[in-house]
Amino acid sequence: MSPILRVGVLASGRGSNLQALLDAGTRLDYPARVVVVVSDREDARALERATAAGVTALFLNPKDHGARTAYEAVLTKTLERHDVGLVCLAGFMRLLTPVFVRVWQGRLMNIHPSLLPAFPGLHAQRQALDHGVTVAGATVHFVDEGVDTGPIVLQAAVPVQATDTEETLAARILVEEHRIYPEAVRLFAEGRLHVAGRKVSIR
Ligand code: GRF
Repeated sequence: MSPILRVGVLASGRGSNLQALLDAGTRLDYPARVVVVVSDREDARALERATAAGVTALFLNPKDHGARTAYEAVLTKTLERHDVGLVCLAGFMRLLTPVFVRVWQGRLMNIHPSLLPAFPGLHAQRQALDHGVTVAGATVHFVDEGVDTGPIVLQAAVPVQATDTEETLAARILVEEHRIYPEAVRLFAEGRLHVAGRKVSIR
């Protein structure tokens, strides 16, 4: 068996996807563990969740570091100090520069609450409702230099109901997010993801 994958999570808010990764890591047969959680917001619930799970929780204040790249350099140093093999964005509300993305290329994942390439960016569930789609969903993807444009690892679809509000649709999508993010991390940890251009194949 390969060694346990050390995962760093960047999160700005509620941290329910972080929780799904923390919970997965408590299972003996799961090949990855969250070892550090970093937030750009001091009041992020994600930091409380990490602490409750006994995982290092760090608030790094962007205001302390001036330029975006200076802040990201500190992020990278912190993640490297914890010997992280994969970085998971989980509701991290900062756009990352190409410099950071290049450092972590192929080792940087994100979860987005739509069936990409539909509805990238903010308020994906509202975009889906406004567009009138009947199927929505969630996507785990590797991060490239665009916004929600990187190679797709896993997707899950959910139906849109006529009575849906942004909240009810988001809740239905979230159930799938919590399932596919730990699954994608598991596949990565097992060395089963092969990326060729835009396409990710699972071995
Ligand atoms: C999720 O919907 C995720 O897809 C998006 O931001 C939200 C974060 O939620 N990127 P949480 O903080 O994981 O609860």
